[in-house]
Amino acid sequence: MYPIILFAHSVVRWAVLLGAAWATLAALSGLRGRRAWTRRARVPGVVLAAVADVQLLLGLSLWLALSPYAITTGTRSHYWTYAHPLAGIAVVALVHVGSVRARRMLDDAARWRTAARYYGAALVVALLAVPWPLLGMGRSLLPF
Ligand code: HEM
Repeated sequence: MYPIILFAHSVVRWAVLLGAAWATLAALSGLRGRRAWTRRARVPGVVLAAVADVQLLLGLSLWLALSPYAITTGTRSHYWTYAHPLAGIAVVALVHVGSVRARRMLDDAARWRTAARYYGAALVVALLAVPWPLLGMGRSLLPF
């Protein structure tokens, strides 16, 4: 089970990064073009929230049980047991809080601005959370 979930978590990281970039660019373009905040305009944010939730579920199963660095094991790694999971949870929180706050804003410009800020912040934190190959604890860009 561990290799399958780690494989899926590694692949879904690209969906999270692309989804966050798409949702941020769509929000910036909506803001600049003074576009209306329609149901269709919310699609990138909804897709991002869905892939972030999948990544959270995969990450939680690694972190709580499957990984050799899981919080439940004796082998702790500063990066894998603490820093990476916390950064991942922050990404998911930024996406959901941003989506709710954007919806509650009073006008469309404020909705786009809020979405751009939160999704942009989620993208930055996700980029920082990824174990890029050149880093000490780095992993490969693709799991195959
Ligand atoms: C949402 C953004 C996230 C991204 C972009 C991301 C990305 C990654 C990547 C690329 C790996 C390495 C996969 C490989 O070895 O091929 C990994 C491993 C891991 N991630 Fe995440 N992750 C995210 C969220 C989370 C969350 C929310 C948690 C836990 C709550 C988590 C826990 C872990 C654990 C425990 C490992 C495995 C360490 C190991 O056994 O070697 N991740 N993650």
